[in-house]
This record gives sequence, structure tokens and C-alpha cells, in this order.
Amino acid sequence: MTTATIQSEIGDKLMQQFVALIYEVTGIRISEQKKALLSNRLRRRLRATGIVSFDAYYKHLKSLKTDHDEWDHFLQEVTTHETYLFRDQQHWTWLEKNYLPEMIALASKGKRQRSLRIWSAASSTGDEAYTTAVCISQALLGSPGWKVNIVGTDIGIGAIEQANRAEFSLRAMRLVPAELKSKYFTETVPDTTWKAKPALTSMIRFRQHNLLEPLAEMPFDLVFLKNVMIYFDDTSKLRVLAHIRKQIVPGGLLLAGAAEGVSDLLEGYKRLQPWLFQKLPS
Ligand SMILES: C[S@@+](CC[C@H](N)C(=O)[O-])C[C@H]1O[C@@H](n2cnc3c(N)ncnc32)[C@H](O)[C@@H]1O
Repeated sequence: MTTATIQSEIGDKLMQQFVALIYEVTGIRISEQKKALLSNRLRRRLRATGIVSFDAYYKHLKSLKTDHDEWDHFLQEVTTHETYLFRDQQHWTWLEKNYLPEMIALASKGKRQRSLRIWSAASSTGDEAYTTAVCISQALLGSPGWKVNIVGTDIGIGAIEQANRAEFSLRAMRLVPAELKSKYFTETVPDTTWKAKPALTSMIRFRQHNLLEPLAEMPFDLVFLKNVMIYFDDTSKLRVLAHIRKQIVPGGLLLAGAAEGVSDLLEGYKRLQPWLFQKLPS
């Protein structure tokens, strides 16, 4: 199949069908105005599969179960994976200066276990999970005996594979303070790639998961939900939030991106900050 024989753009009716399909599977509401963008992204799948038209590709996808490899490739193309370490400094300042010292103080008074379970929901390539691991490693330096579990999940298998490689571009690393960069990462390709050291990777595991579905995990003390709900409508948000609530221990926290638009939809939480919510006992 040559590029020349591939259609240049998805037609209006088919665009509506793709928009509905993406919404059904991911909860993401893509604007029908983004026809050119979606066409460009899907053209790569047409080339890779040898399918000649967007229409035939749509029918092909519909005929496949959603655990088929092609669905992973499709989702990788239609979702936005932008992320980087230490994104949104105020969240990391809070973690470093408030949350972790408080957890350590409570544990030293015997008021909580020396353990922490944290979920980076929609973790993309893992930058949020690795930033969390850096902050925790720093905070626990003088406090041995802690058991820390960070779980990163994302719908995109490509993102999860990259997260498992624990490798980051210079761009993704740009906000990591210099002393932490060399302490927790190794420059594996000069001026190009940094890899997280085992001190971080040993705390984190990644798995594929669709936020529209329940997650089979023990509840968490803290859940990050950032830069993903912005693409969802209220119906999908409510579905995701119901699953997330079950995954937070009573008194545990939900840290949602400022633009996530979940504040008005959350019930059974105390609002601590515009972006931080504490789960009340049910
Ligand atoms: C922009 S990234 C956000 C990464 C990180 N949380 C941050 O704030 O830097 C959004 C991620 O959400 C994921 N995503 C989109 N829909 C999803 C769904 N229904 N379930 C799980 N992940 C989803 C995408 O694959 C993408 O990696």
C-alpha cells in the first residue's frame, strides 16, 4: 500500500462514527472539528495495517475485541500522552512539605502503618509515578522500614511499555532539580536519555487499565488523577469517579488536576484545596 492511495481525510459521517466509538471505549469526547488531526493520526494505522480506507479501518476495528493489539495501536494514536516529571510544582511541594512529613509523623507515633499505597491513574509514560517515587525516597531518607507501593495505570499499552522502560527524554527531565537528577537517574544516552535507578523502579509497577472499568487492587492512600478527565464529559467523569472512590481508603486523598472539572461532581469528600479532596467515611 502506498501513501498515494490512502484517503486524505475522514468524511463527516464517518467522523461522527469514530467520535462515538472513541467515546464508548475511552470516555474521551473528541471534537468533530478535529477531523484533520484524527485523519493524520489514523493514516499511520492505515499504512501499518495495509487497510485502504478509513471506512474499512473503522469496520475492521468494530469487528475486533477491544483486547486485540490493533485496539492498543488505535488508542495510542487517539489519546494525548503529554507528561513530564515534576509537572505542576505546587502538587509536589505539598507532597514534600505537607503530606509525607505528616504520614511519617503519624507512623512514628504509632497512629498509622509504615506503608503507603499511591495510584497514578492515567499515568501515561510514568513521569508522575517516578516523580512521586523521587519525593518519597527523599522524604524517607531518615525513616527506615517503610513499605511503598506506587501503581501507574493507563489505557495505552505503548505508554505502559515506555513507563516500564523507566527512560526519560531531556524534555521530560527538564524540571527535575539537578541534585535529584544525578541521585535517582543515570544518563544512559548522553544529552538524550535518562533512566530511573532501582531505588525508584523497585517502588513502582505499571499495568494497563481503562478508567471506565473497576480496578482490581487494594485501596490507596493517595490517588493522582491529572490531565485526563479534561477530555471526558460529565457522564464519563461520574463513571470514573465512582470506581476511584472505591479505590481510596477512608480518610485517603484524591489529587485531581486543577482543570479536571471534577470538584462539583465529587460526593463524600472534604475539599482541602481546589485540587485536593479527602474521602469521608461512607
Ligand atoms: C495527558 S496524559 C496525563 C499523564 C499524567 N497524569 C500527567 O498529568 O502528566 C493522559 C493519559 O490518559 C490516558 N487515558 C485516556 N483515556 C483513558 C482511560 N479511559 N483510561 C485510562 N487512561 C486513559 C491516555 O492514554 C494518556 O496517557
